[in-house]
Amino acid sequence: MNMYDVILKKRNGGELSTNEINYVVEGYVKGEIPDYQMSAFLMAVYFQKMNKRETVDLTMAMAHSGAMLDLSNINGVTVDKHSTGGVGDKTTLVVGPMITAAGGKLAKMSGRGLGHTGGTIDKLESIPGFKTDLSIEEFIDNVNKYGMAVAGQTSNLDPADKMIYALRDVTATVDSTALIASSIMSKKLASGTEKIVLDIKTGSGAFMKTEKEARELAELMVGIGKDAGRKTVAVISKMDQPLGRAVGNSLEVKEAIESLKGNGPDDLMELCYTLGANMLVMAGISKYIAEAKDRLEMTIRDGSALEIFRSVVKAQGGDTGVINDYSVLGEAAEIYQVKAKKSGYVSKINAKEIGMCSMLLGGGRKEKNDNIDFVVGIYILKKIGDYVEENDVIAEIHSESKESAKAIEDRILASYEFSAEKIERGSVIIDTIV
Ligand code: URA
Repeated sequence: MNMYDVILKKRNGGELSTNEINYVVEGYVKGEIPDYQMSAFLMAVYFQKMNKRETVDLTMAMAHSGAMLDLSNINGVTVDKHSTGGVGDKTTLVVGPMITAAGGKLAKMSGRGLGHTGGTIDKLESIPGFKTDLSIEEFIDNVNKYGMAVAGQTSNLDPADKMIYALRDVTATVDSTALIASSIMSKKLASGTEKIVLDIKTGSGAFMKTEKEARELAELMVGIGKDAGRKTVAVISKMDQPLGRAVGNSLEVKEAIESLKGNGPDDLMELCYTLGANMLVMAGISKYIAEAKDRLEMTIRDGSALEIFRSVVKAQGGDTGVINDYSVLGEAAEIYQVKAKKSGYVSKINAKEIGMCSMLLGGGRKEKNDNIDFVVGIYILKKIGDYVEENDVIAEIHSESKESAKAIEDRILASYEFSAEKIERGSVIIDTIV
């Protein structure tokens, strides 16, 4: 077998055998297949797609590319959540402490930013000292002690995804159903979680632009989970504008902490309660979704979720001073106001554009080894349904200079659309697939 033939077969629309898929994954992880051939392969998959059998094979090959974690040393049922990626999606930072405070156990392997979307690991690393490269022993130990741990992929856990993810990020091969499903499900299978709640996003800021694509992805991933003996539920949620108001690593950490203090934006909180309630029901802690939501609300009201967040930051080496003093996170040199050029109700915000602008400021990676500037980003002041007068400030750009803010100002303005009619902003939840 050789890589050229496998690329050619997929490029021409052929169905790859299990052996061919194993050959690609193993060869890439061992360093025998170079990045340029893997990039071509990913682009062929992007255009020609993979059927369910190929996607399952790819998932299994990736999951088995490193160690398979055994979480049986964790006391209690572990439940995990994973999002397909969005803009301003700081859900894990809020829902994790909430479900932990309600008695759940969260052993979470998270990723870095991908394309225009942010990643939980980058967000957490914006807290000075916060360590995400936990050893497997530390990871399990922390879940047992604190109920929750969030780690980046250790090099021996799903190394295939770690390598392929970084390559997809810079080769425009992220938004492929097969590649997203295999990336997420391989991590979940390798990290040993028993119950999985997926947040499948759809809309301008998601990789799945239409509800139809989101449903296909949800059904594929729920099926992969079930076949592998892991109970999996998928919530389809809207990503037609940034979630909450903050986009950018440390800005999002601030918003997550404010949410844990009871000051969270409605759309973010609605999503957190829905995902969290599904997690509690799956873990057998609550019987019904409504009852689970009540429990979660209580963890915000009584401050117990915030206390879990504090103990996780401390356990992972971060500066807990951040909870009461956001200056610990640092601040961008410039906070530039973007003003509306016309009046009306905000009818659309192109969330992908907002994510791209945050990336261009330095909040995401343009190349695989780029460093992130944690303090930059966009703060959205006007969201869908809000009425705006001409010259009202609709967003703030947090940047290192006025020039870099001005360079993206027009893109932010162009991502807004206005309507003379009042716009009703519905629920952020579209459906739940079990
Ligand atoms: N999150 C992942 O872990 N992988 C993807 O491909 C997309 C979102």
